[in-house]
Amino acid sequence: MVNRILLNTLADGEFHSGEDLGEKLGISRAAVWKQLQKLEDMGIPLNSVKGRGYRLQDAVELLDADFLRTSLDMQLWQQLEVDLVTDSTNENVQRWLASHSGRCVFFAEKQTAGRGRRGRHWVSPFARNLYFSLAWPFENGVAGVQGLSLVVGLAIYRVLQQHCPAPVGLKWPNDILVNDAKLGGILLELNGVMLDACNVIIGIGINLDIRHADQETISQPATGLRQQGCQAGRNELALALMQSLQSVLTEFARTGFAPFAAEWNAANGFRGREVRLILPSSEISGICQGVNEKGELCIVVNGVAQYFNAGEVSLRLAHAS
Ligand code: BTN
Repeated sequence: MVNRILLNTLADGEFHSGEDLGEKLGISRAAVWKQLQKLEDMGIPLNSVKGRGYRLQDAVELLDADFLRTSLDMQLWQQLEVDLVTDSTNENVQRWLASHSGRCVFFAEKQTAGRGRRGRHWVSPFARNLYFSLAWPFENGVAGVQGLSLVVGLAIYRVLQQHCPAPVGLKWPNDILVNDAKLGGILLELNGVMLDACNVIIGIGINLDIRHADQETISQPATGLRQQGCQAGRNELALALMQSLQSVLTEFARTGFAPFAAEWNAANGFRGREVRLILPSSEISGICQGVNEKGELCIVVNGVAQYFNAGEVSLRLAHAS
């Protein structure tokens, strides 16, 4: 286990000598060195300069599990964890569901095998963005979750548009955009599907600080809240997102998607624009209208409205670069 006091000390991005760190932690310099080695082994970027000491490459605000636990309604959540490094927070939830039921949420500062939609990799550098997944049980099996991905997007949209000076929009079925660049994504996975019940793993990645080097490994234009002038803290955002998700998911479980359709359409970043819908074996071009009460997307093709289900489809602007 990595020493949290060590990490919290280094989080200021300033140099700390081995001696000071040893004193602070009450351990020898050799033990400090071992701890620093562990951080490096976990892929947490460190600088060490002779005569000055050690520092994290960047100052970071680490997620604080105690703050989140005390600020949220923990009656609703059986477990809330913040891992420093994990493979994928969706996997954390999957493992939890193997021996638990109910609701849990796992955050991570870094993912080594972050997953995106359609088998893509989700770039997850240490403490720069938000990566988290929750388990939420629903009644009525798969039928009870129609439109779920859209309401998750809406819950996130409500928070981000409050914190982001630039206009945030939604892209069907569940991307969050700013000026057509990706600000966040959602990956839903079903678990334990039965006729009258199912658990959904809701994985969320929100870009806070997308650097040039990250962009090179991402297949589409991406942006972060910092790049858009938002200064909100990571814990503040994580809490606001959880509160919004709690309220939207509770409501959705009661009412289904229909009452959310108008708000989703108002947030639709592609409304009235020419789009291409890429289906598994064909492509449709038309004008994006919005969603109906089931969350199906309406595209007007040669003057005729056609409706599409979210599945293995991908929506693009007709003239995207
Ligand atoms: C997308 O492709 O748009 C969906 C991206 C979802 C990424 C998040 S990050 C937290 C959670 N864990 C994962 O492995 N994926 C999701």
